[in-house]
Amino acid sequence: MKKSGMSHPWRGVLQREAARGRSKTAPLQNPHVTEALPAANPGSAADEQGKTLPLQTMFNEVPRHYDLINRLMTCYFDQAWRKKAAVECLQGHPGSILDLCTGTGDLALMIAERAGRDTRITAVDFSQPMLEAAGRKARQRQAGGQLQIILGDAGRLPFPDEAFDVIGIAFAFRNLTFRNPRTAAYLAEIRRVLKRGGKFVIVETSQPRSAVLRRLFHGYLAAVVAPLGWLVSGHRGAYRYLAWSMRHYYSRNELAALLAGQGFSCIISRPLLGGVAALHVAGKAG
Ligand SMILES: C[S@@+](CC[C@H](N)C(=O)[O-])C[C@H]1O[C@@H](n2cnc3c(N)ncnc32)[C@H](O)[C@@H]1O
Repeated sequence: MKKSGMSHPWRGVLQREAARGRSKTAPLQNPHVTEALPAANPGSAADEQGKTLPLQTMFNEVPRHYDLINRLMTCYFDQAWRKKAAVECLQGHPGSILDLCTGTGDLALMIAERAGRDTRITAVDFSQPMLEAAGRKARQRQAGGQLQIILGDAGRLPFPDEAFDVIGIAFAFRNLTFRNPRTAAYLAEIRRVLKRGGKFVIVETSQPRSAVLRRLFHGYLAAVVAPLGWLVSGHRGAYRYLAWSMRHYYSRNELAALLAGQGFSCIISRPLLGGVAALHVAGKAG
């Protein structure tokens, strides 16, 4: 596994900040009005009280049970949805694919299992423990040869301009864009490393159009997802944030508007399981 020399310089500071709830970042009401923070900021999002959540610290603490909780919460639909994203990423036999915010590597591994030998796959995340889990899975499945796993921040990707034909992201776009003051910076960075004519594939939670389904979905988040995540992982805050951010996250139209406002084109999206999740594909204009 190739890693950059990055360690966790912010970890202690962020934990102390989180404990004191001292952040002054207010929640953003309009996803198009964003303010790029300095590149050294490791990523944050506002919680229901408007406090900044240090996302890197949060994700460093959940990987042991992360896959199990995903499977239980979604009754294994999460893997079926990643598979759709993997198939979309591989259409047209691209030479290079980036799995952005790879976590424990599920999307990257699905792509690697289906890709031809001449497709270069790179997986990046800013959580070392998540990447260690991804590395273990890659070794078990002997997918190591084709897959490069790299520690890095989505706001300052360690790649040259136009490095990738396709960028995929599974269940992490919400972290980058939901009331996150760095939204515009993340999208600009994605555009920078994507080739002209390249494709950006997002699989993410969404909002069902049907009011009845939406109410059921939101009830499920509060009654099952948050308590289940807390019970299995012991991390109440992380799973309360997950359920809350899923409840308030963008609909397909809102997400398309966000992408269009940041210079992506040809945006199409497909609802998954009645719209509780969606697959979005956007292009980078030539
Ligand atoms: C909900 S997990 C999704 C992981 C994986 N893609 C999946 O399908 O399960 C979100 C991931 O995004 C990563 N992440 C969040 N913000 C990031 C950032 N600014 N730079 C790099 N990784 C980030 C977290 O460390 C975490 O592994």
